[in-house]
Amino acid sequence: MPGWSGEESAVNTKAVRIPRHVAIIMDGNGRWAERRGHPRVFGHIRGASRLKPIVMEADRLGIESLTLYAFSTENWGRPDGELGVLWKLLKKFLRREQEELNRENVRLRVFGEVERLGADVRDVLNPAISKLSGNTGLKLNFALSYGGRRELARAASLFAEDCLKGLRKPEDLRQDELLLEKYLWTHELEDLAKVDLVIRTSGEQRISNFLLWQAAYAEYFFTERCWPDFGIEHFQEAIAAFGSRDRRFGMVSAQLGSEPAIDSSRPGLTRSAEIPESLQREVV
Ligand code: FPP
Repeated sequence: MPGWSGEESAVNTKAVRIPRHVAIIMDGNGRWAERRGHPRVFGHIRGASRLKPIVMEADRLGIESLTLYAFSTENWGRPDGELGVLWKLLKKFLRREQEELNRENVRLRVFGEVERLGADVRDVLNPAISKLSGNTGLKLNFALSYGGRRELARAASLFAEDCLKGLRKPEDLRQDELLLEKYLWTHELEDLAKVDLVIRTSGEQRISNFLLWQAAYAEYFFTERCWPDFGIEHFQEAIAAFGSRDRRFGMVSAQLGSEPAIDSSRPGLTRSAEIPESLQREVV
């Protein structure tokens, strides 16, 4: 990919099934720093330096959307000094990289309780979003002051308000559960309604309130590696692992066509699911 410099990639995109939407829980910055005898914020500084190579690789692989859990609703409880560093790093990333993101046709979006962010952060964020809004390549999404439970509670409340206004009826939701998606933060960013792959670094194996609705059928990739050590080769490993998973969405493989793939010549999996007569006798 022209423009971006740095690490080289070895993944042959022709052979790999590529997830459309990848979400990353960038965990382990603090522990990474403490294990090396540094203050926690050193881990965030190193962690911030991992963003660009991973965004670059996502773009090169043809991933449509990359969502980064940059700041959770729970993160507000951290010491002021650490919060200050996190917001400074976000501003620095945006100031430094927006020209290059623009050249690479990357679009930038954010979702979460954006109104809670400081004016200084919004003053950098909003112009960057506007500047990149016409781009048509990789969608880079930051979840900021985001919590999945808060998103679902907010959606339920907005739906109830619409019911009170007579715009909806409670049974609408029972008839069509996907209606709730229209009330999620991610609705404005329509393609975010479904996550294909969630990556979490640092050895923790939990979802931590991230995209609870959207990741209902996601595949998960957990690695012991902390985020500051997560390089493009590890990202590629996660993408390759996704490619080897059998995703059935509650059905059986034979009912499903092939996943979206870079290699469009890959034959589909659609086959008829005939039940042999001998087995039919067993179920009557
Ligand atoms: C978890 O590390 C990470 C975060 C709180 C947010 C991610 C932040 C970065 C990657 C830094 C820069 C961010 C941007 C958007 C430029 P942790 O401190 O919770 O790790 P620990 O579990 O080891 O304490």
